[in-house]
Amino acid sequence: MNLRIFPAMSAVCGIVLSTAAVSGADPLLRPTAVAGQRGMVVCVSPPAAEVGVAVLRGGGNAVDAATAVALALAVTFPEAGNIGGGGFMLIKPADAARESVCIDYRETAPAACRAETFVHETAQFGPKTVGVPGTIRGLDSAHKQFGKLPWRELVLPAVTLARDGFPLDAGTARALNGLVEKHAAAFPEFARVYRKPDVTAWQTGDILRQPDLAATLQRLADAGPDEFYAGRTAELLVDEIRRGDGFISFNDLRGYRAVSRKPVHGTYRGYDVYSSPPPSSGGTAIVTMLNILETFPLQEYGRYDPRTLHLMTEAMRRAYADRARYLGDPDFVEIPSHLTTKEHARRLAATIVADRATPSREVALDIPLADEGESTTHFSVIDADGMAVANTYTLQNSYGSLVVVRGAGFLLNNEMTDFNWRPGVTDRMGRIGTPANVVAPGKRMLSSQSPTIVTRDGRTVLVTGSPGGRTIPNTVLNVLLNVLEFEMELDAAVAAPRSHHAWFPDVLRVESAAEDRDAATLTQLRNWGHQVEAISGRQGDAHSILVRKGRVTGVADVRRAAATAVAE
Ligand code: DON
Repeated sequence: MNLRIFPAMSAVCGIVLSTAAVSGADPLLRPTAVAGQRGMVVCVSPPAAEVGVAVLRGGGNAVDAATAVALALAVTFPEAGNIGGGGFMLIKPADAARESVCIDYRETAPAACRAETFVHETAQFGPKTVGVPGTIRGLDSAHKQFGKLPWRELVLPAVTLARDGFPLDAGTARALNGLVEKHAAAFPEFARVYRKPDVTAWQTGDILRQPDLAATLQRLADAGPDEFYAGRTAELLVDEIRRGDGFISFNDLRGYRAVSRKPVHGTYRGYDVYSSPPPSSGGTAIVTMLNILETFPLQEYGRYDPRTLHLMTEAMRRAYADRARYLGDPDFVEIPSHLTTKEHARRLAATIVADRATPSREVALDIPLADEGESTTHFSVIDADGMAVANTYTLQNSYGSLVVVRGAGFLLNNEMTDFNWRPGVTDRMGRIGTPANVVAPGKRMLSSQSPTIVTRDGRTVLVTGSPGGRTIPNTVLNVLLNVLEFEMELDAAVAAPRSHHAWFPDVLRVESAAEDRDAATLTQLRNWGHQVEAISGRQGDAHSILVRKGRVTGVADVRRAAATAVAE
């Protein structure tokens, strides 16, 4: 096993910091669980987690901490942390009587885009692929509704990290070296901002300073969030898009709104599960799958029994067919209300055959098939009063569109690639062309981001979520079942090998450790007709918090980059 893990715990000024460097880490090996009662941040980047905990220690609540962490990650995790992208923040207030809310700050299609705009487009990067960014409006909305500390105080730590720099972890150093070399000609500003100043290769521990980004963040600290949408930053952004013949205008920026939505809610064996509503498919898919699986005695079968994996796969296949058929921006398409009902799940469950994989074609015969896309980051926060935040946000691909706004130092997303670019073209490779997610001006592209909070009797039990594009709802399903059905400890639940099926391609993907350990299970699944593929990469990165018997435990998933869990 080519495992590199450094579970050493170091106590720093009352902060417990656990760091794990990953690259090829074996998901079967347990990450470090960190306990703490007075608030916790679990995220991909140690300096960003420290920012969050400092906010908690300074009297901020979980939303204050989440806001500061999101801004810090835009500096220290440029792969996916962002101010030029979008996402979803699920907030459970400390007061059990107050409803949870999901802030949808998903990007929108610029007004100039139409259903046919991308029909002949092949480039997955560049200025045309940029959706109107939502992150700053989303953080602004969360902060205005729930925050306690002044906005400026939450932005300044990110300014410092950008101005003074922070040490690169191995994964980011490697990624930047590769990207700068490959894309310097097509994306010169990317190369200028992310190349090592002496033009040698970045090494682990080298300090990355981002002066343009520091200046942008300073403007946001001084003038407030509107600056991004109507101030100097907006001007720089629109100039950049114009230079690249892209679509975003001032009006698009000025008109952008984050939306506070009711989370999707389901129940599973007495637990309440809250997750992201449309325009994410995450919550709907997760609740559909849980409802289906609740009708089977999985615990009796066991976690890696072929029957359990078969049923999980069949639930995934059916939920993802619903996703393709129905889901999109709820402000543009009517989302049927039955998808998350127990009755719908019972109907779907009745179509599952115990010893045969259902061909994906059969579960959605109404969708015509033609003959014949990863980075995001999730973090979880809880404060001493029990307010919890699950936040997933993204630039879409790692480093988004690769377009850095000249003079402003931040990356723009390539989220437009999440729309169905070729209406009518749904194929066996996983391309979807159904009407619900076709481009329209101002419309939000369908997402899979699934920040999720589980409660029991109004109290937070689990905070989780993950990156991984279309695999996200399935990663969250794996973690939820591990905790709620199989009663695993959080470190084991996060480490356990994951599986993924997305309707099309009609393939069951499993993390390779499962192949080694559960060869007999996988053989049985193949005999039942599943096309099983062991993947060498990892599925997701689920930074999670569990509250069980009054004990709060944070676990930073070690599947990607450096990870950290911090508790006071
Ligand atoms: O919102 C979505 O579904 C995607 N744009 C997320 C992309 C992603 O997770 C890439 N990740 N690792």
